[in-house]
Amino acid sequence: MKAFITGIAGQDGSYLSEYLLEMGYEVHGMIRRQSTPENQESRIAHLESKIKTYYGDVKDRSSIDRILKEVQPDIIYNLAAQSHVRISFDIPQETFQTNAVGVLNMLEAYRGICPNARFYQASSSEMFGNSVDADGYQRITTPMHPVSPYGIAKLAAYNFVSHYRNAYKLHAVNGILFNHESERRASNFVTNKICKAAVMISNGLQKELALGNLDSFRDWGHSYDYVRAIHKIVTNDKAEDFVVATGMTFSVRQLCYIVFDKLGLDYSKHIKQDEKFIRPEELKYLRGDSKPIREKFGWHPQYTFESMIEEMIEYWKDRI
Ligand code: GDD
Repeated sequence: MKAFITGIAGQDGSYLSEYLLEMGYEVHGMIRRQSTPENQESRIAHLESKIKTYYGDVKDRSSIDRILKEVQPDIIYNLAAQSHVRISFDIPQETFQTNAVGVLNMLEAYRGICPNARFYQASSSEMFGNSVDADGYQRITTPMHPVSPYGIAKLAAYNFVSHYRNAYKLHAVNGILFNHESERRASNFVTNKICKAAVMISNGLQKELALGNLDSFRDWGHSYDYVRAIHKIVTNDKAEDFVVATGMTFSVRQLCYIVFDKLGLDYSKHIKQDEKFIRPEELKYLRGDSKPIREKFGWHPQYTFESMIEEMIEYWKDRI
């Protein structure tokens, strides 16, 4: 079986590649050209001899066509995205081009070149915006009212995937993934930013950490667990969408408390708020109901919130 992953050099792309290789898949992936390739390819450098990568961009239809024609994949995992929600307010058009039009480019190429393949779209809990069901969860039926350019673009892509499934009878599916982290997460996302800074502070290398909103809540899982869910969703015989979440929620403030406490520090002495990190509109609360994927496939996360945080702290302790 041949898998083609856009966004292979990202956090999820790297864990997914490892998982697919373990299962005997041939893994192909698309990489966007950057001026410093070492930075971009650091997460997959250890897989260099086992995977095949191609330069391309979801915004560049000709590159997608060329790669799909050459690879003829059995499964396409579309993970490529401008993945930072706050930055999407600074670059809304680039975000929409990549996260919405880019997905449409992928779908059109898929429909024309390898329609018998399966297609997975990395959809996001950011699409819900501030909608929460009465029981405090978001699920597939929760109305979607996104509050960021990122979420709006992801929602357009989500709808395109459903549309292509219905209109052209393609096996195209969405996984609505809630936040998922790991030591491979870029350090401008809040979990890794806090873990890194707390270790720096505990080593006397930094005094303060500037953050934005401390009172938003997120449902944080581990990328390692979530790529396993992704694979189950796309290899399901029926083309249907699923939510992937832990069902637990913590505020950014609670996250700070836990991380600093693990290092014997009082977070309130080191955190300062900086306007720079406050979003023009904030998604306040996420907590996903992943009962359908748990019941249908027996999927459940192996990491707990604590074990994930401990792993990230250990990573920074080793490096700093
Ligand atoms: N990044 C960041 N930096 N976030 C901060 C900071 C800060 O200094 N201070 C507070 N926060 C808050 C944000 O306002 C948000 O409420 C929360 O921490 C989480 O922010 P991020 O880690 O940047 O993640 P996100 O929730 O915006 O988006 C992530 O999850 C989505 C799924 O819901 C990303 O992974 C998206 O790509 C993903 O789709």
